[in-house]
Amino acid sequence: MSELLKMLGCRYPIIQGPVGMFNSPRMVAAVSEAGGYGLLAVGFINEADTVRKLLDDVRSLTDKPFGANIVLMNPNSREYLKILADAGVKTVTTSVGSPRDIYPIIHDLGMHGIHVVLALAHAVSAVKAGVDGLVVVGSEAGGLRSLNSESSTMVLVPLVADFVKVPIVAAGGIADFRGYRAALALGAQGVQIGTRFLASAESPAAEPWKQAILDCPDGGTSLIPLPNMKLAQRLILTPWIQKRLSEAGLETVSAELERNPAKIGSDERAALGAGQVGALIRDIKPIAQIIREMVS
Ligand SMILES: Cc1cc2nc3c(=O)[nH]c(=O)nc-3n(C[C@H](O)[C@H](O)[C@H](O)COP(=O)(O)O)c2cc1C
Repeated sequence: MSELLKMLGCRYPIIQGPVGMFNSPRMVAAVSEAGGYGLLAVGFINEADTVRKLLDDVRSLTDKPFGANIVLMNPNSREYLKILADAGVKTVTTSVGSPRDIYPIIHDLGMHGIHVVLALAHAVSAVKAGVDGLVVVGSEAGGLRSLNSESSTMVLVPLVADFVKVPIVAAGGIADFRGYRAALALGAQGVQIGTRFLASAESPAAEPWKQAILDCPDGGTSLIPLPNMKLAQRLILTPWIQKRLSEAGLETVSAELERNPAKIGSDERAALGAGQVGALIRDIKPIAQIIREMVS
């Protein structure tokens, strides 16, 4: 059994990628029931009681192992870690921020932590900070990106594997058995899946978002900077974005985008996040089927 599988305690080395503020106990439980590692995204939650309720809800649906993603910039991270440890979570992932101060706490609580990195330099410094594993996310992935020039999964995963000894989870561009096997061949012990699970039967994403992923063509996403931040989001180039880009340019589009998840489905300016791999996704399937086909 790989070091990663020992850490996760699940059957397949497939981790559910956190998606911003989207938390669905049903989806987390579906991933874990199918043999993967379901993950709550507690990074953007402000109330400890919300974290407790989500944990209870997942536990009422599955007795299989699941974890949570902590966003290190969130000032409540330490409190949430204690709640997660008390609830029996054995392994968390950590994103956006330096892992240096939090990993001693994770270890004192008896947990393991896998840190999310987008570049080799961050991978090397995270290992020095004591992380137990790395999620290495290539530039084609959905989610937040830096404004730096970045490497794709195909380059970044073996590059990081050349420099670190901790288990690597590859993320970005993986939607089926081809990507899964490629990731293992590149030196990863497992994968983290974002966009493919977003376009699943159990995903809480609004229908227009799921449909936009199904309709996403080759080259159908782009990095759009977040206003006043040194970060960009990978978004589907919706008809509205394409029109406004030609009329008004990137800065205006970034300022005018509707980022409130509740507005997806009712506002043509909605920011619909997805990875480049949307081009490979052509149907909405149950998570159990996605995982079964991925490992077949
Ligand atoms: C809309 C969206 C939001 C995301 N939000 C987060 C997040 O809050 N924290 C995080 O660590 N990763 C986030 N991600 C990244 C995913 O967890 C995962 O690493 C990534 O989607 C993998 O690439 P893929 O989309 O090609 O599968 C997000 C991805 C998407 C598509």
